[in-house]
Amino acid sequence: MPSDTAPNRLDEMVRSPFARLALLLEGLTPGAPAIDLSLGEPKALIPSFLGPTLQEHLSEFGRYPPIKGIPVLRQAIADWIGRRYPLLKGRVDAESHVLPLSGSREGLFSGIFPALARKPKEEPPVVLIPNPFYQAYGAAAAAAGATPVLLPSTAEGGFLPELEAIDEALLARTVAFYLCTPSNPQGAVADRSYLARAVALARRFDFLLFADECYSEIYAATPPPGTLETAYGETASLANVVAFQSLSKRSGLPGLRSGFVAGDPGFVAAFGRFRNVACPQMPLPIQHVSAKAWADERHVAEGRALYRQNFAIADALLEGRYGYRQPQGSFFLWLNMAAFGGGEEAAKTLWKGCGVRVLPGTYLAQAEPDGVNPGTDYIRVALVHNADTTREALTRIVSILG
Ligand SMILES: Cc1ncc(COP(=O)(O)O)c(C=O)c1O
Repeated sequence: MPSDTAPNRLDEMVRSPFARLALLLEGLTPGAPAIDLSLGEPKALIPSFLGPTLQEHLSEFGRYPPIKGIPVLRQAIADWIGRRYPLLKGRVDAESHVLPLSGSREGLFSGIFPALARKPKEEPPVVLIPNPFYQAYGAAAAAAGATPVLLPSTAEGGFLPELEAIDEALLARTVAFYLCTPSNPQGAVADRSYLARAVALARRFDFLLFADECYSEIYAATPPPGTLETAYGETASLANVVAFQSLSKRSGLPGLRSGFVAGDPGFVAAFGRFRNVACPQMPLPIQHVSAKAWADERHVAEGRALYRQNFAIADALLEGRYGYRQPQGSFFLWLNMAAFGGGEEAAKTLWKGCGVRVLPGTYLAQAEPDGVNPGTDYIRVALVHNADTTREALTRIVSILG
């Protein structure tokens, strides 16, 4: 059963996994030159064709940017959505369906406020969050004074929340449901049937489905289905659904801080008004660079090929070990360390033994009502380096753990 945690536990909901990892490893000497596989930060690709655009628009750093984004950026985003999801071609309106974000994280956080204001709900309002989860969701719920309800997302359920297990009384109080597909940390992809059921719940109980799809372009062969196209396919409308996207993973540009939210036009309008007084605008030169990046797929395909190489290395080295399986999407491995004392012990062992830094899964999840944290047994391993570094790191892991 989902667990209903007390509202306003801000401190508990904003414990950075990376700060906790730094504490865990404090004072321990790495056994070899460090390789960091803890952070989901693409390392190997910077799309250099974007440089001239930045240079061309440099002087526009001298102007305050419009929060709604310049038309050329909003149109590039709408066009990208139409190319990626053919059902939506020509059906996403750059003016009313799209808002740029300064990275998707700030939108995933600040979007909770208009979601909360959108419709009076029975008190206290609920925010549904998968467990484990990207930490911004929990911070948003707690900061907005809503009750975060954690939905178990374990191996038995294909690492996605079991929709049918959510209590109707909770759904009636729900203002937003964060659904991450492909999921961080497990790399699970929600199929069309799952997405359609999630959309139907959002519409029946009139809440917002916040689809976090920032890993959607990192896959082996089949592009993951999109929540917006599924919603549109059901009813020819984007009501109750928004998708959050980012150039951080797709284009290997985490430092650009560029993403967008698209979907339900009522929500997008309200979020735009809220953002206009409360949220960061994207600098104009970055808007131009972003428009160019959304318009190009070549560098994205090159990035995917690099991740495929990394997964081929992982297949060769890890098959049959630590519950390894290739994720359906994203660049993360979610490895079971129960045999090595759990994720925290394994992280220390690997750091001390071979200088490889991995993230204990327990830092990405919270305890269920039975006291069990579903991430306890796991480590998250980000395959974001080039093939040589990846091979070196995974070889070291196997040499230490066996
Ligand atoms: C699941 C998930 N959502 C959102 C983000 C935020 O990405 P950005 O703010 O760089 O767009 C991340 C970053 O790691 C993530 O893992």
